[in-house]
Amino acid sequence: MMTNQDKVKKLIDLRATAKLGGGEKRIESQHKKGKQTARERIEMLLDDGSFEEFDMFVTHRCTNFGMEKTKFLGDGVVTGQGTIDGRLVFVFAQDFTVFGGALSETLAQKICKVMDKAMVVGAPVIGLNDSGGARIQEGVTSLAGYAEIFERNILASGVIPQISAIFGPCAGGAVYSPALTDFILMTDETSYMFVTGPKVVKTVTGEDISTEDLGGAGIHSSKSGVAHFKVENEEEGILIIRKLLSYLPSNNLEDAPMIDCTDPIDRLEDRLNSLIPDNPNQPYNMLEVIEAIVDHGEFLEVHRNFAKNIIVGFCRMGGIPVGVIANQPNFLAGVLDIQASRKAARFVRFCDCFNIPILTLVDVPGFLPGSGQEYGGIIIHGAKLLFAYGEATVPKVTVTLRKSYGGAHDVMSCKQLRGDANYAWPSAQIAVMGASGAIEVLYGKEVAAISKEEEKAKFIQEKVDAYDEAFANPYQAASYGYIDDVIEPRNTRFRVIRAFESLRTKKVVNPPKKHSNIPL
Ligand code: HXC
Repeated sequence: MMTNQDKVKKLIDLRATAKLGGGEKRIESQHKKGKQTARERIEMLLDDGSFEEFDMFVTHRCTNFGMEKTKFLGDGVVTGQGTIDGRLVFVFAQDFTVFGGALSETLAQKICKVMDKAMVVGAPVIGLNDSGGARIQEGVTSLAGYAEIFERNILASGVIPQISAIFGPCAGGAVYSPALTDFILMTDETSYMFVTGPKVVKTVTGEDISTEDLGGAGIHSSKSGVAHFKVENEEEGILIIRKLLSYLPSNNLEDAPMIDCTDPIDRLEDRLNSLIPDNPNQPYNMLEVIEAIVDHGEFLEVHRNFAKNIIVGFCRMGGIPVGVIANQPNFLAGVLDIQASRKAARFVRFCDCFNIPILTLVDVPGFLPGSGQEYGGIIIHGAKLLFAYGEATVPKVTVTLRKSYGGAHDVMSCKQLRGDANYAWPSAQIAVMGASGAIEVLYGKEVAAISKEEEKAKFIQEKVDAYDEAFANPYQAASYGYIDDVIEPRNTRFRVIRAFESLRTKKVVNPPKKHSNIPL
């Protein structure tokens, strides 16, 4: 008969066994691939000693292919709760050392339990993915398990922040759980995501392509936009997750977390007064503006390498978490195209879900013209951004630095889309289009009728000057009240923070509906 002391010892032994996952050999092989184990990842992620594990003794129930003889405590995923900077989070980390982290019925149940608990208390869920996909021996119960997770991802969307780190394989339908979450982070060279791998691609389409080129972090963070962050290694990935969470509330009913601001809110940035080049076609780096006006110059850029013509990311202003959307004149002149519209629309909607005020910095020459964009559906994709801004009820402050032309002017958080504070720098040009395009349309025939080149150039210049005089400034818009004030660039930080502070009690509610029908 076992004494109670024996029973305690047995518990300790069982825990030690569970902690070894698939065993030392497989842990070693994981390390050799430059990857950490599920438990090591959780330890890095959470505050020291805060992890409370659930379901350590769960094992699979599969009896196909002799599986009843191979069971591991915990069954391929480590789940539980803990804190990050003292705030409660829920976490699951797939354990590649157990059946390659492949998803069984019981493994799915463990993940679902964590998600359910997170929803009950309103705390973020972080998934650390490293898995061979559906557990082949289990067949349809594994597929059902994925669908259980997907449904929870969907219901949790907009209620609690969901963050996915991809630290290994993530293939087949398994990619759709991360895709349903708010942010995806991938490690360079040790992670990949694709719906079908290179072998199937070769069989079906004949295309020869490597794993990295098909679904590596480089591709997804620059070309597809699937990944919001590409990181060098897991340590960097963990730091980004912790940083990201510092800007987010735990759920949609909380305000985003304020901190005391040690950076003076009335800090003047003289260099901004001379930042905008006099030549309207000369680029400048919008990141310089962002870094100059946000608290301590700290900006967490999201989607840094994807659709670089628009910048999105998080910062604090006067201690208030703020989501920034800014055209980037340094890349494609900051034009709005399909990718930029999709990127920014999703970011605006995320901020709106989680009560994060939005700062929009505008310098946009318009939408990118051409058949490539039209065939790709720029009308629908551009409408996404328009819709996202128009629907958002969080505080919205807009500063127009230079160009704000045509449809893009309306889209970029203009007054009529319920912009709360719309400011412009003296260099702003708010118009239907730029001078040369406008003169071409208005005086094309007259220009064509002038035969002497010198006279033609003089005529055009006169018209351009008259157009610029009328429209290449913020004062026409300000005279209609579309711009609340024209501000000195160096004073931007103070004006924006004061606006956000006064908007902290903003309450706007959209008309009741089941949900909107954003153009997808
Ligand atoms: C069961 C699996 C598994 C799986 C890996 N393993 N994938 N067991 N089901 N899906 C096991 C292996 O048998 C091995 O067990 C251990 O995990 C490690 O795998 P290795 O192949 O040795 O590792 P590696 O060389 O690093 O290759 C990793 C891999 C490869 C690329 C992920 O294992 C692989 O191709 N697996 C199959 C991937 C796949 O086709 N999955 C189904 C996708 S479809 P031992 O005992 O030797 O350690 C899908 C549908 C989801 O997921 C639908 C949702 C709607």
